[in-house]
Amino acid sequence: MLNKRYAPVMVAVVILLAVSMVGYTRTQAKTEMPVRILFHNNGGKVIFSHLVHHRNYKIPCADCHHEMTHAEDKALACGSCHPVAFDEHYVDNHIASFPDKKYCIQCHHIEYEHLIFDHDEHIEFAEDNCQACHHGEDIEPEPGQCKSCHEDKGDDDMPGLASAAHKRCQGCHEDMFEQGLTSCTSCHEAVDMSQYDGDFSSCGQCHNEHTKDLVLNRMNAFHDQCMDCHERKGKGPFGENSCFKCHIR
Ligand code: HEC
Ligand code: HEC
Ligand code: HEC
Ligand code: HEC
Ligand code: HEC
Ligand code: HEC
Ligand code: HEC
Ligand code: HEC
Ligand code: HEC
Ligand code: HEC
Repeated sequence: MLNKRYAPVMVAVVILLAVSMVGYTRTQAKTEMPVRILFHNNGGKVIFSHLVHHRNYKIPCADCHHEMTHAEDKALACGSCHPVAFDEHYVDNHIASFPDKKYCIQCHHIEYEHLIFDHDEHIEFAEDNCQACHHGEDIEPEPGQCKSCHEDKGDDDMPGLASAAHKRCQGCHEDMFEQGLTSCTSCHEAVDMSQYDGDFSSCGQCHNEHTKDLVLNRMNAFHDQCMDCHERKGKGPFGENSCFKCHIR
């Protein structure tokens, strides 16, 4: 039997243990999967049986959480990457919704660093005609770096750096631009993004499409993921007539 003298100590120990257990399960709960998820939206509420989909239908996490590319990765809200719109609000706030930098490169997926270009050899190719690329003295008193005048973003009077340079190179290298985005590395060395630590360029630096057309918006991300899988497996609601099997009126 316990000596009465120790009783307060035991009580304290029990309380401490209980507190630490709660603390433990709390931190666990943060990364644990939700059992079911209720989505409020303009089409009518949707209840998604999250745990059942994983456990009973045997779907691995990464099939739906396609940002989980490493074992230790966290599952994020889809809206961190599939917002209603890539507007100013998104650009200002999105960085804070990612636990760390490795998620960034799912969208900021390429940066160029070093230019592949032999200037001396090109002076020969251009037969000493500096104006094959540079301006005349009226604009460039001395030939110099294009980027000392052409900034990232251009306007009607002054092309941005990329389009200015490309226009000149294209004169002799039409072939290099013909294959679109796959041909950029004939002049640009791509950086190893897993090691990259610089600023990110805007998507429009390389893509002509509007950003909103590059990554699915929120509704389409959910609809495509949920219904594509149902259709593939021939199970679960999909197609035009099944809206209200998911949306509760
Ligand atoms: C059938 C698809 C599917 C599977 C399988 C799945 N999830 Fe999810 N999960 C979702 C969807 C959809 C959401 C809702 C995300 C949202 O609200 O934007 C979600 C939400 C979550 C959230 C909450 C994220 C947040 O911050 O809002 C966590 C955590 C999570 N899942 C973890 C897991 C883990 C761990 C597994 C595997 C054991 C798993 N999920 C399997 C589809 C799935
Ligand atoms: C870390 C960012 C990120 C998160 C989080 C994320 N996605 Fe995506 N998702 C992307 C990007 C980027 C693409 C486009 C890239 C591509 O087409 O390969 C994409 C593509 C898709 C596609 C197009 C088809 C495919 O699978 O390639 C669907 C559908 C989709 N996401 C649904 C979802 C859903 C649903 C969730 C939440 C369960 C989710 N995504 C979470 C970044 C994310
Ligand atoms: C779902 C895709 C996505 C993910 C993931 C993402 N971003 Fe972005 N980010 C964007 C889009 C879209 C823009 C707007 C770019 C544009 O206007 O072309 C942007 C813009 C930016 C800009 C401003 C660039 C400029 O135009 O000057 C910075 C900086 C940035 N993101 C940093 C980050 C960081 C840091 C992370 C990770 C913590 C991250 N982003 C994750 C899509 C994403
Ligand atoms: C085929 C196109 C081309 C031709 C021809 C050409 N240049 Fe250039 N030049 C460039 C480009 C592009 C840059 C910027 C290089 C960079 O960023 O690496 C440059 C940069 C320079 C610079 C700045 C170097 C520095 O590092 O600051 C000088 C000086 C220069 N050129 C002089 C000349 C002269 C003189 C001629 C003619 C004899 C000439 N270039 C012909 C494309 C050309
Ligand atoms: C001293 C500043 C300066 C430098 C350095 C400079 N530019 Fe320009 N560039 C301008 C100005 C100003 C304009 C707009 C005036 C015009 O349209 O003629 C322009 C316009 C252009 C245009 C569009 C008009 C045209 O001539 O076709 C191209 C292409 C161009 N620059 C390419 C280049 C390239 C390539 C380099 C580097 C090799 C370069 N520029 C270096 C100032 C500069
Ligand atoms: C006056 C014509 C001319 C212009 C303008 C020109 N080049 Fe070239 N370039 C050549 C020739 C000729 C070669 C060697 C033959 C070949 O590989 O096409 C060459 C070769 C190259 C190569 C090596 C290609 C390979 O396959 O090894 C690169 C990279 C390159 N140029 C980049 C540039 C860049 C960047 C610009 C614009 C700043 C530019 N060139 C403008 C004529 C030109
Ligand atoms: C023939 C060579 C050549 C090809 C092919 C080429 N570029 Fe460039 N690009 C250049 C040159 C030269 C510059 C000016 C770089 C400088 O002066 O520092 C440039 C600048 C840029 C810049 C802005 C400056 C920077 O380095 O951040 C972007 C963005 C860019 N290019 C994207 C692309 C994309 C996307 C493609 C493929 C569609 C492409 N380039 C194909 C030669 C090329
Ligand atoms: C420095 C250039 C560059 C920047 C900046 C860039 N991309 Fe890309 N992107 C590419 C290239 C190159 C490809 C083609 C890759 C290939 O085919 O190997 C591509 C392909 C893609 C694809 C695959 C579908 C398609 O259209 O081919 C998506 C989705 C995409 N980029 C989204 C984005 C988003 C979102 C951003 C901005 C957050 C962005 N990219 C910024 C160069 C860039
Ligand atoms: C990777 C495959 C996959 C994805 C993604 C998926 N499901 Fe399912 N879903 C299933 C399968 C398999 C069933 C099983 C049907 C059966 O056994 O009859 C199912 C059944 C359902 C059912 C009916 C039974 C139940 O469990 O409630 C609903 C409703 C449902 N899914 C909603 C969704 C929603 C909403 C999403 C997107 C957030 C989604 N599903 C994403 C595979 C998927
Ligand atoms: C497999 C389940 C499922 C089916 C079937 C389905 N949806 Fe959805 N729907 C969702 C989910 C999940 C969301 C995302 C909820 C969110 O954004 O929080 C959604 C979102 C929406 C939204 C909200 C857009 C917004 O911006 O708020 C509308 C509208 C919508 N669906 C209409 C439809 C229509 C019309 C159909 C039938 C053609 C349909 N849905 C079929 C699951 C489904």
